[in-house]
Amino acid sequence: MPNLFSPIRIGPYQLKNRVFLAPLTRKRALEGNVPGPLSVQYYAQRATAGLLITEATQVSQQGQGYDNTPGIHSKEQIAGWRRVTDAVHAAGGTIFLQLWHVGRISHRRLQPGQALPVAPSAIQPGGLALASSATETFETPRALSIDEIPGIVEDFRQGARNSIEAGFDGVEVHGANGYLLEQFLNDGTNHRTDRYGGSVQNRARLLLDVVQSVCNEVGKDRVGVRVSPWADVNDCRDSDPKALHSFVIPALSRIGPAYLHLVEPRTGGERKFDANHEKAPSIATLFRPLFTGPMVAAGGYVLSTAQATIAAGECDAIAFGRLFIANPDLPRRFELGSSLNRYDRSTFYGGAERGYTDYPFLEAKARAS
Ligand code: FNR
Repeated sequence: MPNLFSPIRIGPYQLKNRVFLAPLTRKRALEGNVPGPLSVQYYAQRATAGLLITEATQVSQQGQGYDNTPGIHSKEQIAGWRRVTDAVHAAGGTIFLQLWHVGRISHRRLQPGQALPVAPSAIQPGGLALASSATETFETPRALSIDEIPGIVEDFRQGARNSIEAGFDGVEVHGANGYLLEQFLNDGTNHRTDRYGGSVQNRARLLLDVVQSVCNEVGKDRVGVRVSPWADVNDCRDSDPKALHSFVIPALSRIGPAYLHLVEPRTGGERKFDANHEKAPSIATLFRPLFTGPMVAAGGYVLSTAQATIAAGECDAIAFGRLFIANPDLPRRFELGSSLNRYDRSTFYGGAERGYTDYPFLEAKARAS
């Protein structure tokens, strides 16, 4: 029976364990949204993960929604990422880049020509735009015209091509957490009346077009896809996530990417599964039968729950976010049953070394005490 430390095959890669680094925005890119030397160090420190998935990385200037997030659309960004992938490979790691377009979760200040952010429909998100230190409410975005949609697909395709040029082993399409692709999926944010809105099939079209195009570009065994039914993040929700994903996941399965990455909902400690708050063990269990191929789950896992989930065959690998922020040697600590460093939420986003590259490794901690 596999456990967290069993090797696993993802696409062409034989990975050393099933403890993955979840994609984590850290907002420390330098001028030009280029990852700098600290990011090189940060990722190399975590190279013992079975698979590293980078922070969400915008495929175009229009796709950026926060300060200091890295991109993958300029020569300088590709060169910056090349230093990251070289360091991770030298340390024995395998790394995929997460391809991102934020859609309406942006601000004019970050947009080309100070234009309005774009979205499937002109629906203002609730909450605050975090694109500047002075937070303000979001503006109502501009609905993309149907003629602009091929350009969005093209940006993802080019981002995938650039990622391979930067030395990545693959890419993960960010279809989760209330950003552009999920804004198209969910009926709360998509009120279109053309072939990208209305029915579940139509709302899924952009995600499926993007995934197909990225698979065509770099090979489907180098592509993962992340989705988050019930995430309820960034004011983005669907009236029937179960029906939606019962269509989306088999459709993804037919395209055949290397893995499917599911974000488990965390709502006040309880997991919420449908409009009636019906509880189930996990969404990985719910959707497992619908996807042929490896499935990765993330969201609130600790060692014991991760082991139980893998042992039960509910999914094949677990991506850890906050625990991996604070523990660069998380797989080793798990394997030894060692204590974990605590994460400091105040240093998640922005800043420099503190809370980024200065969390101690096990040996360093032992020597210090
Ligand atoms: C995230 N998460 C996230 N998800 C994603 O798909 N792309 C991203 O860039 C980010 N960025 C990000 C930053 C920070 C600071 C946190 C805490 C989270 C979500 C993340 O990948 C993961 O799904 C959650 O953190 C839940 O897993 P844990 O932290 O409970 O293991």
